[in-house]
Amino acid sequence: MKIRVPATSANLGPGFDSCGIALSKYLVIEVLKESSEWEIIHELGKEVPTDRSNLLLRVALKLAPSMKPHQIRMTSDIPLARGLGSSSSVIVAGIELANRLGNMNLSAAQKLEIATAIEGHPDNVGPAIYGDFAVTAYDHQSKHTYLVKHHFPECDIIAYIPDHELLTETSRHVLPKELSFQQAVEASAIANVMIAALINGNLPLAGQLMQQDRFHESYREKMVPHLSTIRQICEEEGGYGCFLSGAGPTVLAIVPEDHSERILRLLRALEPEASIELLQIEREGVQVF
Ligand code: HSE
Repeated sequence: MKIRVPATSANLGPGFDSCGIALSKYLVIEVLKESSEWEIIHELGKEVPTDRSNLLLRVALKLAPSMKPHQIRMTSDIPLARGLGSSSSVIVAGIELANRLGNMNLSAAQKLEIATAIEGHPDNVGPAIYGDFAVTAYDHQSKHTYLVKHHFPECDIIAYIPDHELLTETSRHVLPKELSFQQAVEASAIANVMIAALINGNLPLAGQLMQQDRFHESYREKMVPHLSTIRQICEEEGGYGCFLSGAGPTVLAIVPEDHSERILRLLRALEPEASIELLQIEREGVQVF
């Protein structure tokens, strides 16, 4: 059995902790033979545990403690701590592992509730479970998570992935504790119109509003100085818009398909250490083969 979970990008600018898209990079978990103890075989670096302390098994064993131990092969091209949902992909894979090996028969909505409780916000785990474009809300009072999936308009997506990590915790630490009523009303109105424009397939307007975030990007800008340069290139070259992917440091540019080659070339010339990738929207969420 193989479990495949897509990378994700959260926020899309003003849709802070709410909007997310699934992307064409993947975590794949392959369940191999039964074994006397759990073992994860991977080449993801020394900091990723190979035993029960791996997040995948911590999530899975909490949900289904009596699963028989197996060898697991874990492969992933989702870079760690770059704002592309690497930890969400592992959480969603862990839930699916428990679902299958523990015969839990979970619905997508149940997986979403569990994943949101672990992650704290649904904007990465939502599209990781459902695919495509997910608009979500977590109600802290009722502990309920709402999600609406919608088709994201056809376009190319360019990811500018710096070669350094930025932990979500560090990136959330710089955010204000409060916004005024007026600021909150304006910030959420911008997000509302951005979402409506996406639903209408109006990428020029959606892209413009993705750049008008008032919730987080200005506070994070010091940690992601490349954002404004990429935005300028994108604007000059006919891109729809750029935003910080999740908590950063990756920046995504939403661009018309016939503009992507030139924008890719210009971004590649910016910083030789960064990885510049052409991605697509992944229409499917977690898959089991
Ligand atoms: N919405 C989250 C943030 C995504 O921007 O902090 C990263 O977990």
